[in-house]
Amino acid sequence: MRTVELPRTELNPSRLAFGSALLMARLGRRESVRLLEAAHEAGITHFDTARAYGYGEAESAVGEFLARHRESVTVATKLGMVPPRRSRSLGLAKTVARAAVRRAPAARRLLRRGAATMVGSGHFDPAEARSSLETSLRELAVETVDLLLLHECRPADLETEGLFDFLQSSVQAGKVRHFGIATDPHSTAVILDQQARFAPVAQFEHNVRDDTLAAVPDPNRTAVITHSALREVIGPLTALLRDPALRASWSRELDLDLGRPGVPGRLLLAYALESNATGVVLFASTDEATIRANAALADRDEFSSEQIQSFARLARGALSPAG
Ligand SMILES: NC(=O)c1ccc[n+]([C@@H]2O[C@H](COP(=O)([O-])OP(=O)(O)OC[C@H]3O[C@@H](n4cnc5c(N)ncnc54)[C@H](OP(=O)(O)O)[C@@H]3O)[C@@H](O)[C@H]2O)c1
Repeated sequence: MRTVELPRTELNPSRLAFGSALLMARLGRRESVRLLEAAHEAGITHFDTARAYGYGEAESAVGEFLARHRESVTVATKLGMVPPRRSRSLGLAKTVARAAVRRAPAARRLLRRGAATMVGSGHFDPAEARSSLETSLRELAVETVDLLLLHECRPADLETEGLFDFLQSSVQAGKVRHFGIATDPHSTAVILDQQARFAPVAQFEHNVRDDTLAAVPDPNRTAVITHSALREVIGPLTALLRDPALRASWSRELDLDLGRPGVPGRLLLAYALESNATGVVLFASTDEATIRANAALADRDEFSSEQIQSFARLARGALSPAG
């Protein structure tokens, strides 16, 4: 798998990286760990998690995986969003959620929204941040995380007294290699302009719909990690491509069969990889075959640059409000 020297760090992660937001939420532990192993077998060496993912349990699934692979991978976690407290009713809610997804995949979107509303945001007080990091280290069963990111931070959160000192002292204590931000593109742009010391690493969404990479003035001076290449786009795009005439016309224009399974999704990821050429692109999947096919994208050029750019132009036009 192709790797990248991540700017502002000594890290050398795989260009395509695996995110754990779906683990332990839709899936049980055994399945979650198996997906992490599948991603690693496919050559992925960077893994993203957060205290808040999987009702607070995703980190421990990543920890079980890391026990076998710590030396060969890099791991990012986040603080600032807190999972719901563990309780019997939460346990029941998770069981019902997983069963619902097995029976009706369409329930995923609703469940994701439900899970998101159970998460608390804006927890950047240094005492809470310290406690969150200690919990992450324990759950991941590691002494150091490679990246610690401030989860959905707003510029005002970074005024919190003692937050920067906490981040610096965590690096000095060897608990964190690098810190950074993981927030929306607008906040990213403001933070890079006004509070850049917090953001040697910036993680945010990027897909064919919006040129959010403009949030980073110089990608050689900021480590850029993007996500959400697919999540909000693949559904509407798949619906459009069900129209045989449109599919045939786009396929002709791209000289590519868009009816082949997985091709539109991989084109979306290929666009994200090509656009963020000096950084890392995250994706998530609950399917091992999809993980393998996605990973192969970062190994060999399945599509030409012309095909990727033409596809992005067509998709952007069709998905834009006026399209
Ligand atoms: N604030 C933040 O820092 C932040 C925010 C969001 C996400 N993230 C990170 O980024 C990771 C990825 O999240 P994301 O939002 O970027 O998700 P994403 O990868 O854009 O979308 C995931 C969805 O795409 C589907 N998918 C994956 N590959 C596909 C393909 N080739 N064709 C069609 N569908 C495909 C998956 O379905 P299947 O399961 O059916 O394959 C899954 O439902 C998260 O797990 C998390 O680690 C971070």
